[in-house]
Amino acid sequence: MQFIDLKSQYRALKESIDARIQKVLDHGQYILGPEVAEMEGQLAAYTGSKHAISCASGTEALLMSLMALGIGPGDEVITTPFTFAATAEMIVLAGAKPVYVDIDRDTCLIDVTKIEAKITPRTKAIMPVSLYGQVADMDAINAIAEKHKLAVIEDAAQSFGATYKGRKSCNVSTLGCTSFFPSKPLGCYGDGGAIFTNDDLLAKALKEIRTHGQERRYYHTRIGVGGRMDTIQCAVVLGKLERFGWEIERRLALGDLYAKKLAGLKNVKLLTVRGDRDCVWAQYTVFVENREAVVKALAEQGVPTAVHYPLSLNRQPAYRDDASAAETVNSHWAADRVMSLPMSADLTEAQMDRVVAALAAC
Ligand SMILES: Cc1ncc(COP(=O)(O)O)c(C=O)c1O
Repeated sequence: MQFIDLKSQYRALKESIDARIQKVLDHGQYILGPEVAEMEGQLAAYTGSKHAISCASGTEALLMSLMALGIGPGDEVITTPFTFAATAEMIVLAGAKPVYVDIDRDTCLIDVTKIEAKITPRTKAIMPVSLYGQVADMDAINAIAEKHKLAVIEDAAQSFGATYKGRKSCNVSTLGCTSFFPSKPLGCYGDGGAIFTNDDLLAKALKEIRTHGQERRYYHTRIGVGGRMDTIQCAVVLGKLERFGWEIERRLALGDLYAKKLAGLKNVKLLTVRGDRDCVWAQYTVFVENREAVVKALAEQGVPTAVHYPLSLNRQPAYRDDASAAETVNSHWAADRVMSLPMSADLTEAQMDRVVAALAAC
């Protein structure tokens, strides 16, 4: 059993993906070829956003968003320490300071009741993370942001395809950033990402930033990056989009099935999914008390697992922040207990039963 089954997905889509890649090889427009705009159009339509700007990765999407908002030295960005490093990494790389707010223990999403206390005159943005594929509490976050005139950047690397109160992840804030890393809900065959916005000026800035701050060829009006997504990777995403609706349905159904099958196990606590949204389960993550032993026992049964993430960012050497680490107790609690189980749209019920049986035997 694989942790994420990308091979079955490729087998199902092989004909289309191969043909789409071949088409790029034939037309030869490897950078910003027609597939880039075609994919961006489909992604914008899917999320209901006015603009979708593809870029080199989810990490680049976060950096470019911060740059487009003009966030830099002296500024603060509020986020959570319970996330993949890229979230805080790009805030630091932009020259700003990540200010960590603890998570809600049940959902692992930023605890909105603790955000306002962290706002200072230097705060410029809030960067909630839609972790594991569940959109953060965006209405409350947007209301706080509006009151304090802050931007909101959703780190939606794990939540593309998720729905929040009838709206799609990536289209619930000033900017939404996603990743097409192969294992993500919508993955390509390398690195890729996209930024979503309904703001024309931000979209223009992002397109310029993506190509070295060029307003037109060799005329640089701002500092940018080499942040484009390859045409071939956009062709892969176009192929994947053909059955993406089905995949999201499968992910939701498999999440429900896991929850049902795991419900009786005393050593497993499930993540809470709020009633007004769904979770597309980029990772199917649960809490266990004795993780090391459980991981070992599952591995012995041929069940692969992963830990997303074992250490809060404010306890990582590169991001150490003792004052905030003393406060973010739920983040540390989760970091000690989370364990992700095999999940992908092609996971079979028989495979899931093997996972559940192995967990029950722990
Ligand atoms: C929450 C989060 N943010 C950002 C990223 C960065 O995305 P990428 O790997 O495409 O750079 C990831 C990907 O792992 C992620 O999970």
